[in-house]
This record gives sequence, structure tokens and C-alpha cells, in this order.
Amino acid sequence: MHDFIAGLPKCELHLHIEGTLEPELRFELARRNGVELPYASVAEMRASYEFDSLASFLAVYYDGMGVLRTEPDFYELATAYLEKAAAQNVRYAEIFFDPQAHTGRGVPFDVVIRGLARAIGDAEARLGVRAQLIMCFLRDYQAEFAMATLLESLPYRQWIAGVGLDSDERGNPPAKFAAVFERARREGYRLTMHCDVDQPDTTEHIRQCLELIGVDRIDHGVNALEDQALVDEIARRGLGLTVCPISNGFVVEGAKAAEIRRMLDLGLRVTINSDDPAYFGGYVQENLVRVYEELDLTAEELVRFERNAFEIAWLPRAVKDGYLAELE
Ligand code: ADE
Ligand code: ZN
Repeated sequence: MHDFIAGLPKCELHLHIEGTLEPELRFELARRNGVELPYASVAEMRASYEFDSLASFLAVYYDGMGVLRTEPDFYELATAYLEKAAAQNVRYAEIFFDPQAHTGRGVPFDVVIRGLARAIGDAEARLGVRAQLIMCFLRDYQAEFAMATLLESLPYRQWIAGVGLDSDERGNPPAKFAAVFERARREGYRLTMHCDVDQPDTTEHIRQCLELIGVDRIDHGVNALEDQALVDEIARRGLGLTVCPISNGFVVEGAKAAEIRRMLDLGLRVTINSDDPAYFGGYVQENLVRVYEELDLTAEELVRFERNAFEIAWLPRAVKDGYLAELE
């Protein structure tokens, strides 16, 4: 079955590009940019990746991206991910990026997005893997910073399919960003938000995503299962859920396999994704293998994850149909 999973045409919808920064590239960029790192080796760096909660993970994640400074740095970061994705037969990816985590430390927006977009263009031509960007706002900062970032993105909107919301969920509900997402919608962006697993108030956050924001998708969203009204509404709207099993195993306890089983059985559009693979140690193939092993899934169920993902992808109907045909 591992070979079957390897051969599946895949669609990845929940992947933070800064979370693909492998220790080897982090070392290389630190050397090139004259950044001092407190580690003597890749092994020592990897050993420092210790986290058991969303907050403890985020501290390591933001520290890691400090070596990203120039347009070629962002180009190399995205190229490395897209090469790995192509090797795992990912045909299409929607890639999160966190511009405020860079502009906040003096790297211009323009540098970030030009590097990422150039990598996406080159990878499509060279590797046949297609991708688009989703710009995430950091929810632990003020809504005004998010709004300023939204306005700054407008000249580059041909490269950005939609906007998302990530970082520390505690005390930072969707409602805080209602005006930002309303403006983003008016500008033509699709909308998604993280409702991270087992975070305080996350079911209330899912409710706000549905009733107040009108999201097109929910990232994680596993806790919706605790409230039948949320499940019914997600099903009625045909909304997708981008679940990240290996990530769950670090941020909370376990891969949430039983919940994934329930989502499949309920006919929800659940998908399997890698979140921050350089930190959690698994790309999309490894995430699919993890749920396959925990749930003893059939080939049909594995195909269903990818069918769901292409179905909810922010692509024109004809393009989706082309990918869906590859799964027949
Ligand atoms: N930023 C990067 N990975 C994240 C995650 N899993 N949850 C929230 N914010 C993130
Ligand atoms: Zn995420």
C-alpha cells in the first residue's frame, strides 16, 4: 500500500512554506547571510526542535525563519519544497506564507513574494508541479497590521489565491479580523482560517468562521465534530477541512486518526496535509502513510482524500477536472 500511496496524484492544501525550512538549508542561509546560530551541527539543531504545544512549536518556527533575508533565500526555500513535493507526486499545492513574520523584522514584502512566486513559476515549467500562494495573517498581532499587509499585497494579487489566519489561536478569535477578511473578500481573495486542534474556544472559532467570516475552507477544524450543528453546516456548505496528522501528534496528543475516520464516514471533505514538515518530520506522503497505518484504510478511502483536496482546491473547474481524471 505504501507504493500505492506514493503513486497517488496528490494535492496539498495546508503547508507553511516557512515550515519547510530544513536544518541543512537553515545552516546554509545563516552562513551566507552572516547570521550566528547557537548550534554546532545539523544534528544539534534538530535536537533543539522540542515542542509539545502550539505555542512551544511557534517559538521554534519563528526563530528558524530568521535566516531568510533575500529574494534568492525565499526562492531556494520554495524550490526545495516544490522539488520534494514533485518527488512525492504532488500535482498541485496551495502554499501558506507569513509575510508579517518577515516584514516585522525588516525584510520587504516585495522580496518575500517575488522569491516565492519566481520559484513557483520555475517549478511549474521544470517539474510539472503547479502551486499558488495563500497569504496568512498572524492572529497574535493587531488587526491593523493585518489590514496594512492586505493592502500591501494588492499589487501582487495575481500570485495570491486567498488569505488565511494562523499563529497563536489563544485569545485571538476570527471576529478580531472580521473587517480584514471582509475587505479581502471584496478584493477577490478566497478565505480560510486555522481552527487549530484542541485549542481553547476552537469550536466557538469554527462557529465564527461559518457565521461571521463566511470562510471557503477551514484549516484543521477537527473539533467541529464536538458540535452536530457545526458538522451539519460544514457538510451543507461542502466546506473542506485541511487536517495535518503528524503535526497533531506534536501540537496535541496523537494524530487524531479516529476523528479523521469519523469525518470520512460522515462524508465531510477531509484532506491530509503536512503543515510544517521540516519541524514535524513528515511531508504529505508520510502523513498519508500515518493515517493509513492507524486506520487500515482502503485504497478507495486513500483516493478519497485526494479527490476531496482537488475538489476544494481554488482552481478553475476545468483544471480540477483534469486532476480528478488522473485519480480515476
Ligand atoms: N504557523 C505555522 N504552523 C502553524 C500551525 N500549525 N498553527 C498555527 N500557526 C502556524
Ligand atoms: Zn498550519
